[in-house]
Amino acid sequence: MAASDSMLRLEGKVAIITGAASGLGEATARLFAAHGARVVIADVQDELGKAVAASIGLQTCSYKHCDITDEKQVEETVGFTVEKYGSLDIMHCNAGVIGPVEGVMDLDLNKLDRTLAVHVRGTVAAVKHAAHAMRARGTHGSIICMASVAARQGSVAPVAYTVAKHAVIGIMRGAVEELGAHGIRINCISPYYVATPLLFSLNGLTPGEVEARSCEMATLKGVVIRAGNVAQAALFLASDESEYISGHDLVIDGGRTVAMTSSLMAN
Ligand SMILES: NC(=O)c1ccc[n+]([C@@H]2O[C@H](COP(=O)([O-])OP(=O)(O)OC[C@H]3O[C@@H](n4cnc5c(N)ncnc54)[C@H](O)[C@@H]3O)[C@@H](O)[C@H]2O)c1
Repeated sequence: MAASDSMLRLEGKVAIITGAASGLGEATARLFAAHGARVVIADVQDELGKAVAASIGLQTCSYKHCDITDEKQVEETVGFTVEKYGSLDIMHCNAGVIGPVEGVMDLDLNKLDRTLAVHVRGTVAAVKHAAHAMRARGTHGSIICMASVAARQGSVAPVAYTVAKHAVIGIMRGAVEELGAHGIRINCISPYYVATPLLFSLNGLTPGEVEARSCEMATLKGVVIRAGNVAQAALFLASDESEYISGHDLVIDGGRTVAMTSSLMAN
């Protein structure tokens, strides 16, 4: 759905969203495009990614195959975007996998490496090449990295994923001063459980079951967290409304990580 002209919060901006063939990235691509951005979906699910781009509209949205663990493909995706749309204003490093579910004592370290390659190596590659493109054009760009409530608390996700998401926060903190010197902002968003394919693979849960469990454990009752809530947070960080916000982790959890899950006060 297009926002009205007076409310286009990303008019004239160009964005890359990794992992936008599905889930949170897809919802964000749709919202960014509705707010006037031209969007490149960078993913490895080619058929799905092309279909999402076509449904958004090929005037506004393109699909580019990009495995973010391969730095060359990330560099090519940034080059493709600048060539096609003339600039890069927003890099949303969203792609992710749940990774192995085993605890640390049974963890296969090769699977850990693959999980870190997507979340950590892939995010670093996207930040690096986006920042080069932004600096080269003097663009005061916005980079958003997808962390998680698992970057703040243990026990909400498998250990490999928890390690990876803590590292995503580290990427932002490590880069904020260097990028700030070029007028480039970098922030994270950290959602609570949203029903997307990423979580359906956990214990074979159905979308309805993920949503029901998410609501049951939530601190904020009466609202169901959906991909649109996460997309709205990304829209704020991508837009000029957040022009002095950098180095921030915007947690979208209805207070879940601040509240205790149980205490002596519980009935
Ligand atoms: N769903 C949640 O509850 C939740 C909560 C917090 C954070 N997150 C994070 O949000 C992000 C999006 O996840 P989602 O829930 O939408 O899941 P999803 O599975 O629907 O989407 C993830 C996308 O990333 C893509 N991807 C995976 N590996 C890739 C690679 N190497 N290169 C390029 N693309 C790749 C997938 O093809 C997929 O389209 C992830 O980083 C995830 O860790 C999700």
